[in-house]
This record gives sequence, C-alpha cells and structure tokens, in this order.
Amino acid sequence: MSFNQNSIEAFDDGLYIPEVGPWAENKYEVLHHYNYMFSTGMKNRFHNRVYIDLFSSAGIARIRNSNKYVLTSSLIALNLPDPYNYYIYCDIDEKCISTLSERVQRYFPAKKANYIVGDCNEKATKILSLLPKPSKSNTVLTFCVVDPFNLGINFRTMKALSKYRMDFLILLSWMDTSRNEFRYVEYDNNRVDNFLGDAVWREKWAKLKNENYDFRKFLAEEFVSRMMILGYPDTAFKTMFEIRSTSKNLSLYHLAFFSKSKRGYDFWNKARFGGPSQTSLRFED
Ligand SMILES: C[S@@+](CC[C@H](N)C(=O)[O-])C[C@H]1O[C@@H](n2cnc3c(N)ncnc32)[C@H](O)[C@@H]1O
Repeated sequence: MSFNQNSIEAFDDGLYIPEVGPWAENKYEVLHHYNYMFSTGMKNRFHNRVYIDLFSSAGIARIRNSNKYVLTSSLIALNLPDPYNYYIYCDIDEKCISTLSERVQRYFPAKKANYIVGDCNEKATKILSLLPKPSKSNTVLTFCVVDPFNLGINFRTMKALSKYRMDFLILLSWMDTSRNEFRYVEYDNNRVDNFLGDAVWREKWAKLKNENYDFRKFLAEEFVSRMMILGYPDTAFKTMFEIRSTSKNLSLYHLAFFSKSKRGYDFWNKARFGGPSQTSLRFED
C-alpha cells in the first residue's frame, strides 16, 4: 500500500497512531504544499536537499472523533515526487521514533533517514553532525520543521542550526502560552528565557503588559527580532499563517517561515495562499 502524492490522506496501518485535533489538518495541508514546491523547485539547484524534523512524531495521525487518518510532518516530507536526499528525525518519545522508522522502512525503503531519540535542544550537535558537509562541489540546502506542543524550542538550538544554510518552519503555539503566561513571567521559570535566548524580555514585557499588549504578539515579535540577528528578514512576521480551532475559532498557533532567500518566501507565499485559509498576524481573542 502507498500514499497518494497529491494529498495528506493516510490509513490505519496497525502501528501506533497518535490523535490530533481537527485544526491540525490545516497545518498538514500547508506543509504538504510547501514541501512539494520546495523539494521539486530546488532539486536542480543543490546537490543535497535535507529535511530535518525536530519534533517528528510517528508519521500518521488520526483526527480526533473521526475515522480520518492523515500523514503528519515527517511522512509528508517523504511522500513527494522529488523527495529530499536525506532525512533527520528527532523526537523525545521513543515510541514515536521507532514507529516512524518502521513506517519509513515499510513505505519508503529507499530513502536515507537518521533517527534521534531525545530532546532536540540537547541533540543539536548530533543533528548537525549528520548533515552532509557543504562545499562548492557539494551544496546543501536544509528545510527544518519545528513543531512543538508549546514554546519548546530553545533559541540556542535555532542559533546552532542557522549556521548552516537552512530554512525553518516554526510553529508558535499559543494554547500553552495563553494558559501559562502567569507562570512564564515568574523569575524562576525559564521557559521564555530559553525560547528567546535571554532574560531581557521581562523588563520590556513589564512595560507593555501595563498597556494591555497581547503576550502572544509580544513573543512572536521578540522571536522574529532575534531571528533577524541571525540574518533572517522580518518577512516572517508579515507572512505568518494562523491556525484557529475549528469549533471555538480561537487562535491556536501561527506558522512562521524563516528563509534568507527570496525564493524561499515565493514558495512559502504560494503554500500559505494555496492552503484552505490564510490570515495575517492577528490576536484578537
Ligand atoms: C506537536 S507534536 C509533533 C507534531 C508533528 N510534527 C506532526 O506533524 O504532527 C510534538 C512532538 O514532539 C515531541 N517532543 C516533545 N518535546 C520534545 C523535545 N524537547 N524534543 C524532541 N521532541 C519532542 C512529542 O513526543 C511529540 O511527538
């Protein structure tokens, strides 16, 4: 059995299948569009196209309260007409990684994939050691997907990865953020310090909070401003893709795309407009 390359449709293959909310479909559609364009568009421009998934999960998910199965980020990136040359997958959950590797072996046996079990923030050096060594005669372009449940990516990890030629799609998750703002602002809580790579945000936030500024908007702006220090343009901010919950229409997360190349944003703009819905950055919930 195989998957249709023009969709994210999957099936119950008897292996471990996590559940996701119905809104996740929107995210997978956009990922599908982007991977499709990027991998084909870049195949004659770089010797190696690499896909990294830092929070890779198991490859197939079931949409909650339904019998609908979908490919998730890690397999979406494999189910392409011009797949990447190398794949690097990381997940903290051993069950996710062992299931994913079984699926890759079963459905995409010819593909070169590496699997890492552990916290991606602690495994950055290992992940980088698996990248092909770039040179003029062996060019490498990497697309890295960062899709945590919360603000689980450390800026230190982004900094280490961005030393290589790399585009990022990062999910800024607001469910956890809205719920836990009161915890994050405590001085002994280092979640946001790690996410932004410093603690100077606290002072800035203390002022803005008094003006009723939106904490999520503040975090998105601060994150983009730190990515700009790494050489990425502020285009990420203008081109974020918002995912809202299907039932209550709440803002759940924003997909933020970072590339140093204009062509990267050409693909991203097509992918987000080609998706089922698109909105600019807004936080009115
Ligand atoms: C939102 S889900 C992943 C979604 C996946 N990319 C998809 O397309 O459905 C988050 C995944 O990250 C894993 N995870 C959580 N913390 C992690 C960490 N620090 N490093 C690597 N993986 C982590 C979880 O086990 C889970 O499978």
